Amino acid sequence: MKVLHIDASPRTVRSVTRKLSAVFIQNLRLKVPGLHVTHRDVGHHPPPFISDAWVGAAFAPADHDDPSMKGVLHHSDALTAELLACDTLLIATPMHNFSIPACLKAWIDQVVRTDMTFKLKRNNSN
Ligand SMILES: Cc1cc2nc3c(=O)[nH]c(=O)nc-3n(C[C@H](O)[C@H](O)[C@H](O)COP(=O)(O)O)c2cc1C
Repeated sequence: MKVLHIDASPRTVRSVTRKLSAVFIQNLRLKVPGLHVTHRDVGHHPPPFISDAWVGAAFAPADHDDPSMKGVLHHSDALTAELLACDTLLIATPMHNFSIPACLKAWIDQVVRTDMTFKLKRNNSN
């Protein structure tokens, strides 16, 4: 089993969700021999927000070769590869002001990639 463990709290030693996810992983290790865990700490190291250049690069046709777009998806490619390499996702997050923390939303925006983590279903009926 390959787990991607995400912590999204900005807090450190007093964080309830970090304690919970650590205990969860600790117990899982006892049950699953050879467990492989990748830890991604978006609470302490938030991914960048997507930008105009990011959207342009992410939605450019595959054969579109624009040097100015080179490197724009660097973070996104790395985070997406990390997500695709796992078979189990553990997200430990507080709720902040009736929603998820901005750092976790930034991570989601970086990993939602067409034909990589989701596919658009085309409707050919009209
Ligand atoms: C800025 C802030 C906003 C919060 N907003 C909410 C909220 O809208 N709803 C809720 O149920 N809890 C809210 N909480 C409480 C946290 O979600 C809760 O204490 C959580 O366990 C904190 O996790 P952590 O200790 O890992 O940071 C908020 C806490 C903070 C610091």
